[in-house]
Amino acid sequence: MANLSNNNNTDRTLDQSLRPANWHEYIGQDKVKTNLKILIEAAKKRSEPVDHLLLYGPAGLGKTTLAYIIAREMNTNIRITSGPAIEKVGDLASILTNLSAGDILFIDEAHRLNKAVEEILYPAMENRMLHIIIGKGPSARTLQLDLPPFSLIAATTRAALLSNPLRSRFGATFRLDFYGLNDIENILRRSASLMNLSVDLESLGLIAASSRCTPRVANRLLKRVRDYAEVEGEGVVTKEIATKALNLLEVDHLGLESADRRLMEAIIKKFNGGPVGLQALAAATSEELDTIEDMYEPYLLQLGFIQRTARGRIATKLAYEHLGLQSPPENQNLL
Ligand code: ADE
Repeated sequence: MANLSNNNNTDRTLDQSLRPANWHEYIGQDKVKTNLKILIEAAKKRSEPVDHLLLYGPAGLGKTTLAYIIAREMNTNIRITSGPAIEKVGDLASILTNLSAGDILFIDEAHRLNKAVEEILYPAMENRMLHIIIGKGPSARTLQLDLPPFSLIAATTRAALLSNPLRSRFGATFRLDFYGLNDIENILRRSASLMNLSVDLESLGLIAASSRCTPRVANRLLKRVRDYAEVEGEGVVTKEIATKALNLLEVDHLGLESADRRLMEAIIKKFNGGPVGLQALAAATSEELDTIEDMYEPYLLQLGFIQRTARGRIATKLAYEHLGLQSPPENQNLL
C-alpha cells in the first residue's frame, strides 16, 4: 500500500484539480446524489441550512468531495476538520463559536471524536447551544452560548463506532458504496482529459479494474501510469505501458496490492485459513488494526475473499484460488 499512499505536493495539487466541483461533474453514487439534491433544494426554498448529515462508507469514495459540493450548492463556507484534530472541548468550542450563519462544519473521521467533545456536539447540533463548564469542583459554572445556525456534515468509514446519541442527531445518513466499473472508467476519462493525458480505452479498462472500485485509487494509479509513460514511453498510455506500470506497482488485475495478499496469506498459512481475531492478524502482519479495518478489509470483503465471523476472519475458497494455493478439504473452516 505504501507506494500508492504517498502523496507529494504536486500530487495533492492535482488531486484538488481532479475533484469534481458540482453535481454535473460528480460521477456515480446516483441514489445519494438524488437524495442530497432534494435535501438541498428544500433547504434553499426555506432559506434554512441543510440538516446535519452523516456520510459513511469505505475510504476514498468521495465523502469530502460531497461536502464541498453541498457547500457550493448552498452558497456557504465550509470549515474542514477531523475527529482526531479536535483534541479538547475547547478546540471544538473555538471552532463552533467562529462559525458564521449558514456555515457547514465538516468533521472527517468522526468515529475518532473523543467522548467529552462528542458531548459538546449534542446540544450544539440539537439547539445550537454551546454548554461549557468553567472551573472545577464547587466553583464550577456552566457557560451557555447561542451558536449561529450551521450544518454539521460528519464523515466516517466506521459508522458503527459512533455513539448512538451522536448518530441519532443527524437528519439524514447516507452510505457510499464502491463504484461500478463503468463509473470508474468515466471518472478516469475525465481525469485523463484534465491532465491532458492520452489514454486508450483498453488501458482505461485495465486501470479501472485495478482501482478497487474507488475513485481515489483510480486517480492515483492513473498518475503513476502517466509517470511510467513519460519516463519509459512517449507520454502516451497504451495497453503495454499500463500493464507494465501496474505490474511494477505490484497491483494485480483485481486491484490487490502486496499488503492485501500478505494479509490473506497470513490467514491461510499462519492461522490455517482462520478464524483469526483482528489483533492476532495485526500482530502477524505487522499492520495497525485500523489500517486492516479501513484500508484492506472492505475491498477484500467486497470481493468475497475474506469473511468476518463472530470468531474472527476467515479466508474463503476464492482467496485460495486467487493466491494459487491449494484449498484444504471441505471439512475445514472454508466457506
Ligand atoms: N473524482 C473522485 N471522485 C469522483 C466522482 N465521484 N466523480 C468524478 N470525479 C471524481
